[in-house]
Amino acid sequence: MIRLAIQKSGRLSDDSIKLIRECGISFLSASSKLKTEATNFPLEILFLRDDDIPGYVADGVADIGIVGQNVLVEEGLQQLSVKNLGFSKCRLSLAVSKGAEYGDITSLEGKSIATSYPNLLQEYLTSKGVQADIHTISGSVEIAPSIGLADAVCDIVSSGSTLISNGLREVETVFKSEAVLIANQNLDAEKNKLLKQLLFRMEAVQRAQK
Ligand code: PRP
Ligand code: ZN
Ligand code: MG
Repeated sequence: MIRLAIQKSGRLSDDSIKLIRECGISFLSASSKLKTEATNFPLEILFLRDDDIPGYVADGVADIGIVGQNVLVEEGLQQLSVKNLGFSKCRLSLAVSKGAEYGDITSLEGKSIATSYPNLLQEYLTSKGVQADIHTISGSVEIAPSIGLADAVCDIVSSGSTLISNGLREVETVFKSEAVLIANQNLDAEKNKLLKQLLFRMEAVQRAQK
């Protein structure tokens, strides 16, 4: 039996479930349940917060997982990456209030920026030689400028509708992301065999979609 962690609800959830089903794996998914077993493959599925998935896979609580590269790289666990999955594409971007003056990245010198991705943001600012005050918050980042918490935000953009509905304007791309399959690095022989079988099926699904 191999244990897979996927996002419980969010941008990755539907496409993660779709990929598993396209691999020919059947399971019941009640939205209230945090755990389910496949009926035709030795697979257990855990439904978790995406931010928790890399840590659980690193610790071996889950054997494998599907997460965004944004979360994986922010947490410094890119060594767990096995395969890019090509869905849930998004970008980590800097955004300012619609009316704010902005020329280039140096406009953020000395300003405060709210984000849930302090490491990716710091690396980007350092590469540009800009010093800013990073406020790490775990959610509702988009609201920060309008309540006076920060001058700018650095958050995930997919369709862009969250930015628009909060009166924000995207000004820089910090990191590009897509879903990735990750695995614990000390899987036993049986789990490794199951992972190989899953990879084989995923590659067939990807080939069929091209
Ligand atoms: C991100 C981001 C916004 C949303 C943007 O959250 O924080 O809430 O997606 O998408 P949009 O451009 O299509 O409006 P995410 O799904 O990464 O997960 P979270 O719940 O962990 O913040
Ligand atoms: Zn998250
Ligand atoms: Mg969000």
